Formats: sequence, structure tokens, C-alpha cells
Amino acid sequence: MSGDDRELLRHHGDVDAARGLTDFAVNVRLDRPPAWLRARLADVLDDLGSYPSADADEAARCAVAARHDRRPDEVLVLAGAAEGFALLPSLRPELAALVHPSFTEPELALRNAEVPVERVLLDASDGYRLRAEQVPDEADLVVLGNPTNPTSVLHPAEEVRKLLRPGRVVVVDEAFIDTVPGERESVAHLAEPGLLVLRSLTKMWGLPGLRAGYALGDPAVLAELGRYRPHWPVNSLVLTAVQACCEPPAIAESQRAAAEFTEHRAGLLAELTGLPGVEVVRSAEAPFLLLRVPGGEQVRAALRERGIAVRRGDTFPGLDTDHLRIAVRDPEQNSLFVKALKDVVERG
Ligand SMILES: Cc1ncc(COP(=O)(O)O)c(C=O)c1O
Repeated sequence: MSGDDRELLRHHGDVDAARGLTDFAVNVRLDRPPAWLRARLADVLDDLGSYPSADADEAARCAVAARHDRRPDEVLVLAGAAEGFALLPSLRPELAALVHPSFTEPELALRNAEVPVERVLLDASDGYRLRAEQVPDEADLVVLGNPTNPTSVLHPAEEVRKLLRPGRVVVVDEAFIDTVPGERESVAHLAEPGLLVLRSLTKMWGLPGLRAGYALGDPAVLAELGRYRPHWPVNSLVLTAVQACCEPPAIAESQRAAAEFTEHRAGLLAELTGLPGVEVVRSAEAPFLLLRVPGGEQVRAALRERGIAVRRGDTFPGLDTDHLRIAVRDPEQNSLFVKALKDVVERG
């Protein structure tokens, strides 16, 4: 990537997943929210005649706080993790270090606000592992994803904590960590000054259209982050969804889903083993896999002809057109994908 690459950074998997294609490009677990959640949201429709109340905001923050063993004043409800990225310039960083390859929204938001950014590129030959010492000392803002989109690598919480230091905010995008059994390596429960964790309801709950998530952090950092938000920044449906998805039955459901993802991913990895020329980042912990296939662009086009959409990888800093990201689906769909990919690579 060179020059003004912002158009590429703005690329999302939903563009790859055109109507009519079997979607391995987007990583949302469900094609709609579960029935119990739709019912909770439907109950709120009658309340839309009033502005979102302080009580509803407090109820949502209390539910998040209880889920993560935090205080309600350490919670800020967001219109998706994406809003959290858009608010980062309010922290007025002097140098932001972005750990890549990773989701590109934070870089875009910071560059659009003319914040100086430096990319920290993790190394494929090192398994895209986080090495805290690679991050420049001068960075007063560091952003990383855990587990990381698109590599699927889960960094140890201990390595993430090494990034903390006085005068620096470390943003950990945990949009996918609810798909990891036990939310292993999450730092959401840690009340460390300067640690800001972003969470999303989008992937687990089939809610990309609602825009719901939250931030966990020091109240002073949250106040700075929200400084320029409008009044009623999130609507009553979002507040209800956040509350509902942090309650124990939802947590139990997400844990079952995490176990299922783990099983399905292992099956998919096994099926992909031995396909000629196909390399996979094997230390995967998220509900997607990063592949490297020679002639990736042609492979993507050939899969598309067979009715399958995969996410192009070259819009992620550090990757190229040979990289493709695929979602982990159920075993039947996964097998169909592997069969199609085998067919494509064997034909050359
Ligand atoms: C790694 C990662 N973080 C955050 C987001 C945005 O999440 P939300 O829908 O909560 O804004 C996405 C969406 O694709 C993502 O892939």
C-alpha cells in the first residue's frame, strides 16, 4: 500500500459479500439477532416516544460493570466499537502506534483527524505475535486488536500489559474476544490507568445494523473520549441490547457459541491441511482464518464464480493480494468451501 491508501483502509468484508454469494467474508455469527433479543428490543419500541433516559444508561452500564467486574463509572456505552475508534482523536494523542496487520478503522479515524501515526508491523515468520518492544516509546496512544482481525492471533494479556506506561493510552479492541472460550487473555476486567478496552455486540449477537458496543476504562479517560459526543449519543434500543447481552443467560449462550466456534475451526483447519500451496495461520483463536494462497486475487475471483465470497487481505497493512480471510461456518458449509478451494487450486 502506498500514497493515500485511505480508500483501501475503508474497505470492509461486507463489500466482498455480494447478494447471492455464500458468505465467508463477513464474520457475524448469526444472520439476525436471536429471538429472545429481538423480543427485548421489540419491547423498547413503545419507549421511543421519549429520549433515552439516564436510568436506561445506568442500567446498561451496571450490567456491563457486573459482567466484567468493573464499576459502572468505568463503562461508556458506544454506538459499536467503531464509535470508540472514531472518538480516539478526542484523546489528543501526539503519536499513535497501530499494531498491524489489523482492523483499519482506528488508523483511518486517527489519520482523518491528522494525528501522526506509526505502523508497527508484526511479522508473519513470527506468527504475527505481539512483541511489546516493537512499539515506539514515544507513542502516547497504542491500538491493537485481540484476537486480531484478520490474523486470528490471540495475544497474551501479559504482553498487552507490557505496553502500559504513564502518559500512554493502550486501546485493546476486543470485538471478537467473546468468541474465545473463557474470554482467555481478555483485559476487560483490569482497572489499570491508561487501559481502554473496546467491546462489540455486533459479531456474537448478529447486530451489525444496530451499532452497539461499549468501552471499559478509567473514568477520566472515558470523559475525555466522550468530550465531543452529542447529547443522547446512543439510542434506547442500543442501551437495552447492551444490558440484555451482558446478563447471565446471554453470557452462557456466548460461551456455548465460543466452544462451537473452536470445534468448527479445528475441523476447518484439518480439512485445509495439505491443500497444494495453501498456507494458514494456524495459531488461530478467532472465528476466521487467514490464508495465503499464490495467485490470491485469481483464487478469490474463481471462488466467486463458484458462488463463494471471501475477504480480500490486501487492504490490511502488511498483507498482500495472496492473503484471504475466511469466516468459520458450520461443518457443512466449511466442507463446501474447502471443496471449492481445492478445486480452484488444483486447477491452477
Ligand atoms: C476487529 C474489529 N473491531 C471492531 C469492529 C467494529 O465493531 P462494531 O460493529 O461494534 O462497530 C469490527 C467490525 O468489522 C472488527 O472487525
